[in-house]
Amino acid sequence: MAVLVTGGAGFIGSHTVVQLLEHGEEIVILDNFSNSSPDVLDKIRQISGKDFKFYEGDMRDKELLKRLFEENKIEAVIHFAGLKAVGESVEKPLDYYDNNINGTLCVLEAMKASGCKKMIFSSSATVYGNDNKVPFTEDMKTSATNPYGWTKVFIEHILEGVCTSDKEFSAVLLRYFNPIGAHKSGLIGEKPNGIPNNLMPYIVKVANGEYDHLNVFGDDYDTPDGTGVRDYIHVVDLADGHIAALEYARKNNGVQTVNLGTGRGTSVLELVRAFEKASGKKVPYVIAPRRAGDIAECYADVSKAKEILGWQAKYDVDDMCKDNARWALKL
Ligand code: NAD
Ligand code: UFG
Repeated sequence: MAVLVTGGAGFIGSHTVVQLLEHGEEIVILDNFSNSSPDVLDKIRQISGKDFKFYEGDMRDKELLKRLFEENKIEAVIHFAGLKAVGESVEKPLDYYDNNINGTLCVLEAMKASGCKKMIFSSSATVYGNDNKVPFTEDMKTSATNPYGWTKVFIEHILEGVCTSDKEFSAVLLRYFNPIGAHKSGLIGEKPNGIPNNLMPYIVKVANGEYDHLNVFGDDYDTPDGTGVRDYIHVVDLADGHIAALEYARKNNGVQTVNLGTGRGTSVLELVRAFEKASGKKVPYVIAPRRAGDIAECYADVSKAKEILGWQAKYDVDDMCKDNARWALKL
């Protein structure tokens, strides 16, 4: 039996496939390369020394999904495929609803037709919205402030509905906090297209001289140094969280929602300093106005992940910066 990884050529997907192959899993990847490139597949083979099956195409292509499920015995789906840029989702809401929600429905229909009843879903801390108090616990009310966030909220509800209707179905909704870092080999990591929205890829472009400074969005938040606080998690820790979730889904039915974070908050300036230390490069910055929609603090209560999945993050921010710098600056 194989595990289907949708979006397996992407940032989190590629690291998860490496860990899954090392865990002895048989893997089938589906990706349309809308935000990744084919060379990642060879890098995964190089790191793991193992092979997998690959289908190039869109998860909304029902014929392709039908063929994929007929040609392979799929035990479980780890579902990363989706569009993820918050700003772009505000510009193009229909693209986001179609790709993320319709795409997920297509995958779920193909699973139903073939009797596959396990899904691990990439949700996000963004579903905690603007009104909850840190640390975020899984039982808090969810909401969103942009179409991207709503796709995560809706898909969580869709999977709850599937589990209510089919008592044998198992869905693990993983709410990721802020994944950064890269594989130790330096062969795979995050490769954002265009101007990065997120902090770490922006820091990298300042460190390598592409941009002359980082804009720090606000230094007047109610946080220890006034800058925004986030729960950065090493992408390899995150990948391991999926193996724990897969093992959980193999033993339990129903829906479970689990935060994947470290439980520790790091400010923008702390991350800048940690990156400078890890890379030996300067990251000049200027204080800029707050970014619309940002919250002051976002970090996880991670007790449920430990209790239910037996998983906890191993790497700290220094490790994340070291591995990120090795990948992105080829140090
Ligand atoms: P990514 O863009 O690197 O990976 C997503 C992959 O899915 C890409 O390879 C892309 O080509 C593929 N894809 C997109 N639409 C597809 C479609 N219709 N059919 C087939 N393939 C398709 O993103 P990532 O950072 O690896 O994120 C993976 C998942 O985790 C996403 O669902 C994202 O929303 C979620 N997530 C990411 C973060 C983050 O900060 N990176 C945080 C929370 C949640
Ligand atoms: N920041 C800057 N300058 C930048 C970029 C970011 O100061 O150039 C600050 C932000 O204001 C924030 C922190 O750095 O305080 C982190 O910002 P990111 O954009 O890296 O991450 P966010 O927490 O805002 O959002 C990310 C993803 C969302 C996801 C969320 C939780 O973009 O899609 O993490 O997983 F929902």
